[in-house]
Amino acid sequence: MHPFAQYIDNVPDFPKSGILFRDVSPLLRQKFSETIDAMSDLFTPDEWAQVDHLVGIESRGFIFASALAYKHGKGFVKVRKPGKLPNVCATIAYGLEYGSDELQMQKGDSGKVIICDDLIATGGSMKAAADLCEQVGYEVVGLACLVDLKALNDFEWHGMRVRSVIQYE
Ligand code: PRP
Ligand code: ADE
Repeated sequence: MHPFAQYIDNVPDFPKSGILFRDVSPLLRQKFSETIDAMSDLFTPDEWAQVDHLVGIESRGFIFASALAYKHGKGFVKVRKPGKLPNVCATIAYGLEYGSDELQMQKGDSGKVIICDDLIATGGSMKAAADLCEQVGYEVVGLACLVDLKALNDFEWHGMRVRSVIQYE
């Protein structure tokens, strides 16, 4: 197991009965810069060079996308829950491990993006975000998360796999 896993709290039955919640809060509190560096290392310098923006999925995805955007001198773009963004261009309903929701984006400007989140479970949120990026005009060149709950998904989007730092098989 990855050394970061010792900083992740495994919380049974949160937020619903039957869900084992992987809480990355202690990792972010104690090893934030190391965590961002590990996510940065998921992509080569050549891959980073071609990226225009980092896309974050509300809310935990904002943490990683914004830190990586700052580290690499890129733009930051939000994928938000409903009712938060003005001038919404596209909306997609999706399912996630413990419910369902909608995500929204504003019009893009045709740049190349990497989508970031803290964790992928079923892949519902990542798929919705990737579909939205495409709909509003971005080209998705990478998908990244800190934690992949691989037992819950075999996710790929248009043949692209999600790169992750920590995997739970
Ligand atoms: C969590 C997490 C991912 C998503 C993963 O977000 O941050 O975005 O669930 O689950 P999935 O792969 O089954 O879609 P949540 O909607 O709970 O929002 P939050 O980031 O605001 O806590
Ligand atoms: N988001 C969806 N499923 C999750 C889980 N098991 N732990 C933490 N965040 C999640």
